[in-house]
Order: sequence, then C-alpha cells, then structure tokens
Amino acid sequence: MNNKIIIINGPNLNLLGEREQSQYGSITFDGLKEICFKKSNELGLDLEFVHSNIEGELVDLIQQSINKFDGIIINAAAFTHTSIAIRDALDVFKKPIIEVHISNIYKREEFRQKSLISDIVTGGIFGLGANGYILAIISMQRLLRNEN
Ligand code: DQA
Repeated sequence: MNNKIIIINGPNLNLLGEREQSQYGSITFDGLKEICFKKSNELGLDLEFVHSNIEGELVDLIQQSINKFDGIIINAAAFTHTSIAIRDALDVFKKPIIEVHISNIYKREEFRQKSLISDIVTGGIFGLGANGYILAIISMQRLLRNEN
C-alpha cells in the first residue's frame, strides 16, 4: 500500500504567483499543487495538498493527520514565526515532519528569522523556491522507506 502524506500550506500561500515574486517566484498555487502531485505519483505516494489562512484550521488539519497520514510536509507561512498552537499540534504527530519555506527566512526581516517549529520537526528546507517542495517529497519518501 502507498504511504500517505499531506502537504499543509499556511496563510497567503494561495496567492503565490501574485505576491512578492522576488521572494516566491512566479509559480502559482495551482502550479505548485500540480508539480507536487506529479512528483508524489512518480514516487508512489498518496498526496493530500491543503491550504488554510486560519490558524485553528491548520491545527485541526494537523490533529486529523495523526491517524490519517504517514508524514507531514508543512509550510506554515507567517504562523511559523508566531504560532505555539501549530507547534504544539505538530509535536503530537510522532511521524516524519518536514518544514518548507520557499524563501530563505534567515536572509529576510528579523521577525522571520525565528521558526517556532524547526526544533521539533524532522528536518527543513528553505530558500530553494518551489523546488523545496519537490525536495521535501523526495526526502519524505526516503524517510518513510528508511532509506536516508
Ligand atoms: C514563507 C516565509 C514566511 O516568512 C512568510 O510569512 C510566508 C512564506 C516562505 O515560504 O518563504 O508566507 O513561509
């Protein structure tokens, strides 16, 4: 049976392609979704790809993932820097978690240089654009197959 993974996207990522192209490139949210499905299919992973602008909905999605998914890839967007609730929910998920950021948060404003989740996730990718999502999917597959 295929491993099941979820990619969780936080606030404003639905505006990819329209917002700050210098940071996030020109790929649209739908375009990102499409390349993630393509790579997941190629690697034999069942993917769910979700977005919410609402912190509590993201917490619900993470809680619901506990019994439904083998791994979480998350770009919590601005909530990365502020949300203890998202951190606490992720901390309950005892399977692999990969944190992704499209931009290099450590090269940006000081308030973005702190992630509240980096120390509880399995690993992270930042600053590599939309390709970071693809690298996260590949790494997740290896983690789930114990090949890393
Ligand atoms: C982001 C970085 C965050 O600081 C920002 O709030 C985002 C996107 C990224 O993918 O680079 O919305 O998570």
